[in-house]
Amino acid sequence: MLSIHNVSKQFGGITAIKDVSFEMEKGEIVGLVGPNGAGKSTLLNIVSGVYLPSSGTVIFGGEDITYLKPNKVCKLGIAKTFQLVQSFPQLTAIQNVTVGALFGNSEKISMKEAEGKAEEKLEYVGYPRDKINYPVKNLNVVELKRIQLARALATDPKLILLDEVTTGLNPKESNTAISLIQKIRESGITILMVEHVMRIIMNVSDRVVVLHHGKKIAEGTPEAITKDEKVISSYLGEKTYM
Ligand SMILES: Nc1ncnc2c1ncn2[C@@H]1O[C@H](COP(=O)(O)OP(=O)(O)O)[C@@H](O)[C@H]1O
Ligand SMILES: [Mg+2]
Repeated sequence: MLSIHNVSKQFGGITAIKDVSFEMEKGEIVGLVGPNGAGKSTLLNIVSGVYLPSSGTVIFGGEDITYLKPNKVCKLGIAKTFQLVQSFPQLTAIQNVTVGALFGNSEKISMKEAEGKAEEKLEYVGYPRDKINYPVKNLNVVELKRIQLARALATDPKLILLDEVTTGLNPKESNTAISLIQKIRESGITILMVEHVMRIIMNVSDRVVVLHHGKKIAEGTPEAITKDEKVISSYLGEKTYM
């Protein structure tokens, strides 16, 4: 479904991503992990068309999407949440999600249909019903993350890119998040997720890709990754909350 071939990204003198390649099959959940600054968000931004890579190619469903703009990538069926919440602050929760429903991968729909879909997706991600008309600037981080997820789902993606959607959750909320991620996959959506909480990665990923200083240092099942010497010394060794 997705092939990333030798992708590199320079920001001025900084090499954020260096020759990264991996593949994803339809229906998989792949976890992307690594220390802060490893290049995880940059890679998701390249796949979704937010950044152009300095070199390399991204193929989605057989089509070269390397140089497509984000709106085109979205129409092809890739949705992404942002690590930093970038919703429209003056709009209400439901309006934010309606934007996703109107501009996504699906057929053209009316405003009324889009609102109905937005409401359905907000409920699906566990967003409180009594807050759907709140301006998003009044919401907390957890609520904003839910809105982002609902907005991404409202575009009817085939592949969803999740950038730390579970950051800031308490253990009980994390469990709910794990079930939700599994439910999204069961609905037929393929998932590439950046996540810091190893318990979540271990619970939901079929495969894990580890980045360090922009390079892929390991790839494998969650079990194999936790035993990998390179991964332990560069990343897992510093973790205290496994
Ligand atoms: N827009 C940008 N301009 C300049 N440098 C950037 C930009 N985005 C990311 N970087 C740099 O690229 C590297 C990787 O960042 P990032 O992809 O955000 O890492 P991660 O998500 O793994 O924490 C970091 O050194 C970061 O400072
Ligand atoms: Mg990041």
